[in-house]
Amino acid sequence: MSIKSIIFAVALLCASTPSHADDSLYQELGGQAGISQLMETFVLEIASDDRIIHHFEKTDIERLHRLLTEQVCVIAGGPCEYTGEDMVTVHTGMNITRAEFNALVEDLMTAMEQEEVPVTTQNRLLAALAEMHSEVVGL
Ligand code: HEM
Repeated sequence: MSIKSIIFAVALLCASTPSHADDSLYQELGGQAGISQLMETFVLEIASDDRIIHHFEKTDIERLHRLLTEQVCVIAGGPCEYTGEDMVTVHTGMNITRAEFNALVEDLMTAMEQEEVPVTTQNRLLAALAEMHSEVVGL
């Protein structure tokens, strides 16, 4: 094999190897099982939160749990697909206030404490969700 064909073969191999997306947050959250468990605890927290529960009176909680799990998996870089509605469409007409958004974030923090998610991991997920507030609040 000539040196040229070896270089060509190596270049071909590099080009065809998929670049790995950063799934470190997904791994830190315990993968699919960890995220599903965390979202279950989160949904239970929401269900006992008088500040925001009125928004969820007609909500199919199992569907919400499934879609939150999918969405957090995607946000965390995991191998999932989000199959729900886009955030703006879902939350339009709910008139969600900044205080209600913060209440939901607090519920997530409580859930993460209960599931013993490390603080650095908590902060990474919270930062990702905080960026979404304009797709949820005041619509
Ligand atoms: C970053 C923050 C938030 C995220 C990532 C988020 C995510 C989601 C997702 C994935 C769904 C399911 C979408 C679907 O049914 O297709 C959903 C639905 C819903 N969200 Fe949010 N949400 C957030 C904040 C909030 C807040 C602050 C409230 C109210 C206090 C809220 C109220 C609701 C309600 C009531 C539904 C169910 C709608 C229905 O029953 O069809 N969300 N949200």
